[in-house]
Amino acid sequence: MSVSAESPREYFAICEVEEIPRGGARAFDLAEPDGEGQKPFRIVIARNARGDHFAYRNACPHQGVWLNVGSGTFFDETGALRCGRHGSRFDLENGTCVSGPCEGAHLQKIGVAVVTGDVCIHGVTLVEDDRAWDDDDTMDITVPPG
Ligand code: FES
Repeated sequence: MSVSAESPREYFAICEVEEIPRGGARAFDLAEPDGEGQKPFRIVIARNARGDHFAYRNACPHQGVWLNVGSGTFFDETGALRCGRHGSRFDLENGTCVSGPCEGAHLQKIGVAVVTGDVCIHGVTLVEDDRAWDDDDTMDITVPPG
């Protein structure tokens, strides 16, 4: 029996395009398999001024905290994607830390595409059942100043 190395790409619809404004970002609290159970899979989807989408695991490469820890926002006063714990700043389009304690490290990028009006992620395995934990109110939509 032969098994194809190619498997169909699975897309997970996360939200509608209009739910994230240009220049904005939104956190999503998803779940991924963990042995027989599941564990949190927290992501952020951000849009640049042109409207392109970028998705990352919402975990700072420095100490693993949510980028929006503290203030609940993803952007600093200049509009740069940044971590709320120690202020590392990231290139929105490739996830590279451009300044701060983890300079040169990278956010974990997630494949993202717009499919018939929905923002979808791919290249990941998700648990689509109910999550076993509560939402946190810092996981809200944020829009940079200006
Ligand atoms: S935990 Fe993000 S910069 Fe330190």
